[in-house]
Amino acid sequence: MEEAYEYVKELEDLPGIGPLTAEKLRNAGIFSPKQLALYSIDELLMYTDIDDYNRLNRALIRVRRIFRPSILTKASEYANLRNKLPKLTTGVQAIDQLLQGGLEPRCIYEIVGEYGTGKSQLCFQLSVTAQLTSNRRGVGGKTFYIDTEGTFSDKRVISIAERFNVDDPLSNIFVLQPMNVDEQIDCIRILLPKCIEEENVKLIVVDSLISHIRAEYRGREMLVTRQQTLNYMLNFLLRIAMLYNAYVVVTNHVVARPLAGGGIIAAGGHVMAHGTTHRLFMSQTSAKGKKKNILYRKVVVEDSPYLQRGASTVFGISEKGLIDVL
Ligand SMILES: Nc1ncnc2c1ncn2[C@@H]1O[C@H](COP(=O)(O)OP(=O)(O)OP(=O)(O)O)[C@@H](O)[C@H]1O
Ligand SMILES: [Mg+2]
Repeated sequence: MEEAYEYVKELEDLPGIGPLTAEKLRNAGIFSPKQLALYSIDELLMYTDIDDYNRLNRALIRVRRIFRPSILTKASEYANLRNKLPKLTTGVQAIDQLLQGGLEPRCIYEIVGEYGTGKSQLCFQLSVTAQLTSNRRGVGGKTFYIDTEGTFSDKRVISIAERFNVDDPLSNIFVLQPMNVDEQIDCIRILLPKCIEEENVKLIVVDSLISHIRAEYRGREMLVTRQQTLNYMLNFLLRIAMLYNAYVVVTNHVVARPLAGGGIIAAGGHVMAHGTTHRLFMSQTSAKGKKKNILYRKVVVEDSPYLQRGASTVFGISEKGLIDVL
């Protein structure tokens, strides 16, 4: 794979892609052969004004061969590959145990909960632990932090980083504050892959994935567009996670359960539930410990391909971030 990649660094190195076509791809936000591998032919025809189907298809077949060589693997090889990829610590042993060792790459973790339950605090903490070296159970990488609610706190990141002895944590976090859904999609589709390739980004945070969508697409008549847009963002995040072995965390709101019985459920309906890999529900808890100035919170596995549904643990939120309390 490395060898083939040597010869294919620029879009122009691909068969059928001359300077003019390459420029059209760059204008559509596709800057490298690897980024091209994220797309399907129909998307390319939609995003660019290139109308030569065969030419594009030849280039796509080549980039897939280079960057997706292991699309057909035995489950045993797949297991080997997965085992080689490190898990990312949350900095809280109890949560790491709940997740069977920490966050895995190549999938999407969804953190749902009412306001003030610690979703953003967890995202801050992960953008610090991602910077830790592998012997400290980090992944030695930068974070691409999409902050749609304007709640990113450099102060909190600095306090959390002190606890983990991470110097200058802010220089390893890119903060993006898209103003609307269109900008958010640009962040995910265009800026994110570029940043991963150029800046050693390993962790992607979207806090929250849903707020702009909820605000912009209101009412029943917009429901279909709203769900399609949500689906596209999730799907694109998953493609990126898989192509670049990235770690992805998105936060989500809760809504009142529409039918009798009351209570709260995750926003985003079926699309959100299907589109994310692991859903963790955060909530306040009546559990009380001896430690002062600590907020106690509970996290429950609500849905996951291998974590037991309903498994839970308790953690604390302190001045120094999320901590163990058990
Ligand atoms: N320096 C601090 N020390 C202790 N607790 C803090 C500190 N800063 C924030 N908190 C607490 O962390 C709690 C969780 O906040 P967080 O911002 O993570 O909530 P959230 O789940 O993201 O909510 P929202 O849905 O409103 O974004 C808040 O109740 C807040 O009081
Ligand atoms: Mg928040």
